[in-house]
Amino acid sequence: MAGTCIIGLQWGDEAKGKLVDLLTKDMDVVVRYQGGANAGHTVVVGDAVYKLHHLPSGIINGRVLNIVAAGVVVHPETILREIRSLAERGIDVRGRLLLSDRAHVVMPWHLIEDQLWNLAVSGENNIGTTLRGIGPCYRDKVGRSYAVRVGDLLRSDFPNRIREIVAARLPVLRAMAGSQPVDLDADTIIEEFAAFQKELRPFVVDTTRVLLDLVEQDKRILFEGAQGSLLDIDHGTFPFVTSSNSSGVGISAGSGVAAKWLTKMIGVCKCYSTRVGGGPFPTELLDEIGEQIRTKGREYGTTTGRPRRCGWFDAVAVRYTRRLGGIDRLALMMLDVLSGLPEVKICVAYELDGERIDYFPGSAEALRRVKPIYETMPGWQEELTDARDLDDLPVAALNYIRRIETLVGCRAEFVSVGPDRAQTIICDDVAAVANVT
Ligand code: IMP
Repeated sequence: MAGTCIIGLQWGDEAKGKLVDLLTKDMDVVVRYQGGANAGHTVVVGDAVYKLHHLPSGIINGRVLNIVAAGVVVHPETILREIRSLAERGIDVRGRLLLSDRAHVVMPWHLIEDQLWNLAVSGENNIGTTLRGIGPCYRDKVGRSYAVRVGDLLRSDFPNRIREIVAARLPVLRAMAGSQPVDLDADTIIEEFAAFQKELRPFVVDTTRVLLDLVEQDKRILFEGAQGSLLDIDHGTFPFVTSSNSSGVGISAGSGVAAKWLTKMIGVCKCYSTRVGGGPFPTELLDEIGEQIRTKGREYGTTTGRPRRCGWFDAVAVRYTRRLGGIDRLALMMLDVLSGLPEVKICVAYELDGERIDYFPGSAEALRRVKPIYETMPGWQEELTDARDLDDLPVAALNYIRRIETLVGCRAEFVSVGPDRAQTIICDDVAAVANVT
C-alpha cells in the first residue's frame, strides 16, 4: 500500500490542489485530514477551473473515493454548497464522498467569535484569520464541553444540545461584542441544521474504520494537506498559525492511519514565498518586485480574496519544513512567475542579533528580528508556460531550481510552470540537465 502525502512547505497556498489533481489518476482514495473551509485549493482542467475549500481535490476525478476525515473541522453549509456546485457542473459526488462522524463542526458561534477576535486585536498582533471559525472550533474540540461533532448532528437530542450551548456561549459573546449586537438564536440554528442533517446524512460514516480497512486492502491513498507547515499549530510561527497540525505530523492524527503506512512524502513549495494574514515573514518584498510577483502569480487568497504578501524563496524555512515532514521529493510550483526578473534571490541563512544562523527560529518574536542573507542568481527572460521538459527550461532557471534542491536538501520530482495539469514537468535529474553540481 502506498500512502502518498502532499504537504505544503511554506505558509499555505503552494498550489497543492493542482498536484493532488495530477496524482489522483494513480490513486483509489484522496483524504483531507485537517483544517476546514479556510483552505482554498484550485484545480484547473483545460478551460474548467474548480475552486474547492472543503472537499478533497480528488473529487473532480469521477473515479476515486474522497474522505473528509476526523481531524477536519466541517462547515456543513460550505460542504453542501460545494457538492451542489459540482452537481451543476456534472460532477456527482454520491457514493464517492465520505464524511467522518468524528469530525467537529464549525458552528455559528465559532464564526462570530472569530470575527470578534479579529476586530479586538489590531496591528502586528492580529493573526488575520480567514474568519472561518477555525480557531474557536478547534479550541472547543480540545475543551470538549461545547464541542459538536458531525455524528451529533444526526442525533435526536441535537436541538437540546444547541439550546444548552447557545445559553452558555451567548453571554460570553455579548461580553466580547460590547455595544454590537450578537446574532445567535438557538431556534434559527436548529432549523438551519435540520436541513443540513437531511442532506449530509448519506455521506456520514466512521471514516477512521473505513480508512483502516482500505489500508489493509492495499488501496492507494493520497493524503491532501491543507495550509502549509509554517502554519502548523505546534511547529509553525505561533501564534500566527492555523489551529491544526498542517505539517506532515498531522496526517496520522487527523486520519487515524498510522505513520508506518505513509510511504511517500511530497513537499510542495512555490519558487518564491507568500504569506497571507499576519506574522513574521523574513523575505517579504515590499517593493515593486513583490508587486510584480503578486500580479504575475495572481497572488490573491482563494478563500478571502486578500492580497498575499510576496517575497523571495526562503531556503532556511523550507529546509526546516522539509526535515519536519520527512519529505522525499519536492514539487516546485509557479516557476513561470519569476520570468522577466533581471536577478533572483534565495535566502540561504539569517542574521539574528549580529550572528549568522542557518536554522529556523522557534519563536515568532525571534523570527521578526532576523535579517535574511541572500544569494543572488541571474534571472531569465523567457516565458516558461509552454515548457514540458527540463530541456525546455533556460539554464538560469535550471540553475535556480538546482540551487533550491541543494539548499533544501531534497530533489525535485515536479516543476510547475502554470495552473493547468499539462503545465507540469516531471523531473528526472535536474543536476544532470543543468550540467551543474
Ligand atoms: P485560520 O486558519 O482561519 O484561523 O487563520 C490563521 C492563519 O492561517 C491566518 O494567517 C490565515 O491567513 C492563515 N491561513 C489559513 N488557511 C490558509 C490557507 O489555506 N492558505 C494560506 N493561509 C491560510
